[in-house]
Amino acid sequence: MRKGKFITVDGVEGAGKSTQIDLICSYLHEKGIEVVRTREPGGTEVGEKIRSVLLDVENQEMHSDTELMLMFSSRNELIQNKIIPALNEGFWVVSDRFTDASFAYQGGGRMLDLNRISELADWVLGDFKPDLTLLLDVSVEVGMQRIEARAAKDRIELEERAFFERVRSVFISRSEAFPERIKLIDASGSVDDIQSKIRSLIDSL
Ligand SMILES: Nc1ncnc2c1ncn2[C@@H]1O[C@H](COP(=O)(O)OP(=O)(O)OP(=O)(O)O)[C@@H](O)[C@H]1O
Ligand SMILES: [Mg+2]
Repeated sequence: MRKGKFITVDGVEGAGKSTQIDLICSYLHEKGIEVVRTREPGGTEVGEKIRSVLLDVENQEMHSDTELMLMFSSRNELIQNKIIPALNEGFWVVSDRFTDASFAYQGGGRMLDLNRISELADWVLGDFKPDLTLLLDVSVEVGMQRIEARAAKDRIELEERAFFERVRSVFISRSEAFPERIKLIDASGSVDDIQSKIRSLIDSL
């Protein structure tokens, strides 16, 4: 059934996900592979509505479990209505963030029990998982510096530094727990160096 490959790109804010995904999509196009690009939360009509609730700075009082379930609701919509149909048709799918981000942000950042997140992930995803996850790893400081120039911050970006340190550390521990799927890439170097590491990982797919 699944003919295409599913690649996810994750990491803290400013790690370079969007920049590298642009280049990944060009690379796949050059190889004659048709790509569907998407992002989380969002990526579908319903998902983008959920995204605006999640990122709205007015929703400061949102309960962490609500945030977690909205993330998975958006993800379910994306998987069922976009990712699976595309993979079945033979498209490759590249997603800016995926389930690992729920462990990192709601587990690490918000300090929800990782086992509860796992239960929810099993419930929503079953055996469905990416073929390859590129974890772009930079220090929180470097990531923040890179996005400093950007305009207004969203609800999650308003968190303090310690929140993002916890996010990064859960990402790193997941890459150690699932070394076959999650490839940790040092994203502190140049855009081109990072992309060439990514391309060799994609080649092996
Ligand atoms: N390797 C790099 N070295 C220096 N600057 C970079 C590098 N990669 C990306 N940048 C720059 O850093 C900024 C953030 O990059 P980008 O938007 O790709 O990150 P992101 O991970 O998608 O961020 P966000 O989590 O906010 O979506 C951009 O201005 C980009 O041009
Ligand atoms: Mg981005």
